[in-house]
Amino acid sequence: MGKVLIAYSTHEGQSAKVADFIAEVLRGRGLDATVSDLKEARDASPAGYDGVIVGGSIHMGKHDNRMVEYVRSNLEALSAAPSAFFSVSLSSHGEPEEAESYVKNFEEQTGWRPDTVAMFSGGLPYTHMNFIMRHMMKKIVEGKPGSMDTDTSRDYVYTEWDGVRRFAEDFAAQLAPAAS
Ligand SMILES: Cc1cc2nc3c(=O)[nH]c(=O)nc-3n(C[C@H](O)[C@H](O)[C@H](O)COP(=O)(O)O)c2cc1C
Repeated sequence: MGKVLIAYSTHEGQSAKVADFIAEVLRGRGLDATVSDLKEARDASPAGYDGVIVGGSIHMGKHDNRMVEYVRSNLEALSAAPSAFFSVSLSSHGEPEEAESYVKNFEEQTGWRPDTVAMFSGGLPYTHMNFIMRHMMKKIVEGKPGSMDTDTSRDYVYTEWDGVRRFAEDFAAQLAPAAS
C-alpha cells in the first residue's frame, strides 16, 4: 500500500481541516495517509513515504516559518518523491495573483519545486482573533471589492472542498495510476 505523508502548518485550524480531508480522500483510494502537524512534529521525516504533501496558511503575507524550515531541511527527500504543496489564504478567494505571489515567494525561500501546487481559499476566523486583529482584518476586508463579510461576531469559510478533493484524487492517481 502506498504511504503518503501530509505535513501541515496552521494557525486557526483551516489547513488542518484541509489536510484531514485530503487524507480521507487518499484513504478512500487505498493509500496509507499520515497527517502530521508541524507544530508538534517539526521533524516529521518524509523518508520512507512514497509521496509527500506539505501545506499551510498565509498570515500577514507569509507562510509559517516552521513550514519553510521543514521544507528547507527535507529538500532532498521532498524532491525525490512525488510531492505536492497547498497554500491556504484569503487571497485565493478572489485575488489569485496575490495568492500566487505567496507561493512564488515560498518556492524562492525554500528552493522546493513541488510537482503540483494548489491554492485553496481559507476563511475569516474573526472569533479566533484578538480585538486588534479582528478590527484590522475587518478594515482589510472592507477595502476589498465586492466582499460583504464583515460581521466580526462570526467566522466565514470559503474553502471549496470539490477543488481539494480533485487535488487529492490527482495526487492519488500519480501514486497508483491503476487504482484511479
Ligand atoms: C492574523 C491573520 C492574518 C492574515 N493575513 C493574511 C494575508 O496576509 N493574506 C491572505 O491572503 N490571508 C490572510 N489571512 C487569512 C488566512 O490565510 C485564512 O484565515 C486561513 O484560512 C488561515 O488558515 P489556518 O487556519 O490554517 O491558519 C490572515 C488571517 C489572519 C487570522
